[in-house]
Amino acid sequence: MIYAMAELHTTAGTIHYTEAGGAGAPAVILVHGFPLDGRVWGDVAAMLATRFRVVVPDLPGFGQSLQEGPYTMATMAGSLVALADHLKLDRFAAAGLSMGGYVLQALVRSHPNRLSALSLVDTRANADDEKGRAGRDAMAKLARETGPAAVAEKMMPNMLHTAAYEADPAVADRLRDMILDQPAETLALASEAMRDRPAFFDLLPTLPCPLQVIVGDDDRIAPLDVAKDIAAKAKNARLDVIKKAGHMAPLERPEAVAEAIEAFLSK
Ligand code: MLT
Repeated sequence: MIYAMAELHTTAGTIHYTEAGGAGAPAVILVHGFPLDGRVWGDVAAMLATRFRVVVPDLPGFGQSLQEGPYTMATMAGSLVALADHLKLDRFAAAGLSMGGYVLQALVRSHPNRLSALSLVDTRANADDEKGRAGRDAMAKLARETGPAAVAEKMMPNMLHTAAYEADPAVADRLRDMILDQPAETLALASEAMRDRPAFFDLLPTLPCPLQVIVGDDDRIAPLDVAKDIAAKAKNARLDVIKKAGHMAPLERPEAVAEAIEAFLSK
């Protein structure tokens, strides 16, 4: 297994990514959520790397990817396509956690032939309603005025499954550390980008690739009924419910998520 960290330099900025697994193996790109970076997929990536070429980027402005905004889900998807081009991945599988799922939805819209398989993990397919949009503005203001610590304090109580803190405090510590590492302005700009994302329901019935929907059974941000609705609106989607996981299933139950993705991609 090779393991490498690298950077792609584009006119828009730098995309930092890690790569693991055999160069000739089928490729899968794992896309992180908000307000995180690629490390949220670290354990899953290591498990999948025994069978796949696993690429884990930091989205623009997050983690070690330096890029000024503004962002949209479509521009973030464009960065993934640039990375795939750089790695000479014509078609590839991808899994997106929450905001990462929105980015992959934008990628399906702009580049319908690039994905060979799509896993949407702990995510949604609707656009924000008025209350949701106001919440994004409030989150952007909070990030700009008070920084990532305030964002962590606001979001963390809903991110992990209800018994997570007692079950494994180290997971909560990893999550908090990751949030604290994100630039405040990126968090604000990404909130505004999520506020303006379109719904994905129109594309679900005619998706150009197989779809898997993964959800933590205690996800209180993108709950089970949301995942069931996405799977029902697509043709022949596979639904995997991860037990004892909240909105951060890849961090909370990496072995179960890796197994589900591997089972889906092996078909
Ligand atoms: C995420 O985990 O990426 C966010 O919770 C997504 C969202 O707020 O819609």
